[in-house]
Amino acid sequence: MDMDIVFATNNLHKLEEIGALLGERFRLIGLKELNINGDIPEDHLTLEENASQKAWYIYDLTGRDCFADDTGLEVDALKGAPGVYSARYSMIGHPTFPEMEPAEGNIRKLLFEMEGKNVRNARFRTVIALVLGGKEYQFEGVVDGRITEVPSGAKGFGYDPVFRPDGYEITFAEMDLALKNQISHRALAVAQLVQKLKGM
Ligand code: IMP
Repeated sequence: MDMDIVFATNNLHKLEEIGALLGERFRLIGLKELNINGDIPEDHLTLEENASQKAWYIYDLTGRDCFADDTGLEVDALKGAPGVYSARYSMIGHPTFPEMEPAEGNIRKLLFEMEGKNVRNARFRTVIALVLGGKEYQFEGVVDGRITEVPSGAKGFGYDPVFRPDGYEITFAEMDLALKNQISHRALAVAQLVQKLKGM
């Protein structure tokens, strides 16, 4: 039986990536297709609450089964920051590097905050909230690693140039996308979502 499911995102790249993983039994619908163009509220302090808030917001608006994701980079030496603020880290508090592209400003701020710190453990964490028949399920994907001293590599996006996953000598930004997509936080969370949906 074919099933429509809404992914609460406007990011076409994410839609395509997750759509391919779900396979032909599922038709993934993005927010553009539903003419939902405004920002979806995500004003909580945890990835879990934000993913949940986004999924329920779209479920309440459309009455359709849907899921939403939220990702953060959690750095031990910074007490879990940037965490839920990963996308706009350099603009939090006293804005730093406002003249830079957000990803570059975020990396510059992170490396500044990490100066002189020997403990450089960090993790990317993705939480997916799925609302199915009015019931919520959550899935988590985690990849542990370290924050490098300097950026390296040009692939990927966001904090990829300064994140070296455990078990590898290269950063995410030096890694082929196909490999990153097998081992990433998002891939691990999506694998659980796919398992749940396929088991229905
Ligand atoms: P989102 O919840 O997927 O929009 O991710 C929030 C922020 O986390 C992004 O704006 C990026 O700064 C960062 N981020 C998420 N996933 C990745 C990744 O795979 N590599 C590097 N940065 C990421």
